[in-house]
Amino acid sequence: MRMVDLILKKRDNLPLTEEEINFIIKGYTEDKIPDYQIASLLMAICFRGMTDEECFYLTKAMVESGEVLDLSAINGKTVDKHSTGGVGDKTSLALGPLVASCGVKLAKMSGRGLGHTGGTLDKLESIPGFNIELTEEEFIKQVNDIGMAIIGQTKDMCPADKKLYALRDVTGTVESIPLIASSIMSKKIAAGAQTIVLDVKVGSGAFMKDLEGARKLSKAMVEIGKQFGRNVSAVITNMDEPLGEAVGNSLEVIEAIETLKGNGPEDFTELVLNLGAHILYNAQEVASLEEGISKLQENMRNGKALMKFKEFVLRQGGNPDVTEDYSLLPQAKYVYEVNATEKGYIQHIDALAVGNYAMKLGAGRLTKESPIDLAVGLKIKQKIGAYVDENTILGEVYSNQPLTEEHFVEFRNLFKLTNEKIEKPKLILDLVR
Ligand code: URA
Repeated sequence: MRMVDLILKKRDNLPLTEEEINFIIKGYTEDKIPDYQIASLLMAICFRGMTDEECFYLTKAMVESGEVLDLSAINGKTVDKHSTGGVGDKTSLALGPLVASCGVKLAKMSGRGLGHTGGTLDKLESIPGFNIELTEEEFIKQVNDIGMAIIGQTKDMCPADKKLYALRDVTGTVESIPLIASSIMSKKIAAGAQTIVLDVKVGSGAFMKDLEGARKLSKAMVEIGKQFGRNVSAVITNMDEPLGEAVGNSLEVIEAIETLKGNGPEDFTELVLNLGAHILYNAQEVASLEEGISKLQENMRNGKALMKFKEFVLRQGGNPDVTEDYSLLPQAKYVYEVNATEKGYIQHIDALAVGNYAMKLGAGRLTKESPIDLAVGLKIKQKIGAYVDENTILGEVYSNQPLTEEHFVEFRNLFKLTNEKIEKPKLILDLVR
């Protein structure tokens, strides 16, 4: 088989066979096919797309390129969730303990963040002592013992995806639904859980900018899951404004804890309850989504969800007292309130610009190697639809440098106001099963 013939085949819109896809992925992982030929193929895929079968073969080849976690030693139903990423997305921190407190087993591998703020691992590492590196045995034992664990992805999982993703990043080939779907699903399949709930974000602060694209991506991922015999559903959620109030690592940990105590922001609480209900329903722990939501709300009220969070933190070496004393988390030197300077209804909050604002404060990384300041970030106190005037505090900035007037102006510019009354946007936009 010659790589050039496979590039020509895809260029001419002919589907690749399983054998051909295996040849490509194996050859690339073993450095036998050069970057330039793979880049050319990736670009052809961006234009020509892939059939459902090709997507499945590609995912399978990437899964088989590395280690696959065997979760069969876990007693009970294993669940996992994945978010396509957004600004202020601290969902796993609250969702994990919440669903684990209802009896399912959350075995999750997470990543670090590039851009706006850190990823789930960085957020967890705001908690003093927290260890994200467990061996496979420790990981499985912890999930069996307490119902949940969140760790970093092992180096040996899906090496083909790591190599391909790095190449896509620098060759303008990230934005392709079959490539995104197979990349995300290869990692989820290799991580082993039977039930997977995907949170597909759509809007200005997300990867997918429109609902149609988000639906296509969701369908592609659910279809791949089905081929592997996994129980997958996708909830499509709005990312036209940041999720919740907090953006920044330790600030997001605090918001997740407050949510487990039942005091979280309305939109974030709604998201966590909905995703949690889908997890419980798909894992057949409840007979309906409504029953799932009330079970989760009950565990917020009776303290079981918070207890599960403490147990999880303690088991992974962190200090569980952070749940009662937030000063144990990294603290910013300066906290500023920013007020509105005009009246009106908030029409839009540029989520991407909010993320970039937090990154400039130091909350995110520009490159994989850059350091991250876990203490800094911001809080968005007014959301789309709110009426504000000169006395309204739009938000707070947590910084380790004194702010200048330009920072204040830039913060206010994150909010677009109008004189027309604006409806609060819907958070849950669609569901793909
Ligand atoms: N996240 C992934 O893991 N892969 C993609 O291709 C895009 C987002």
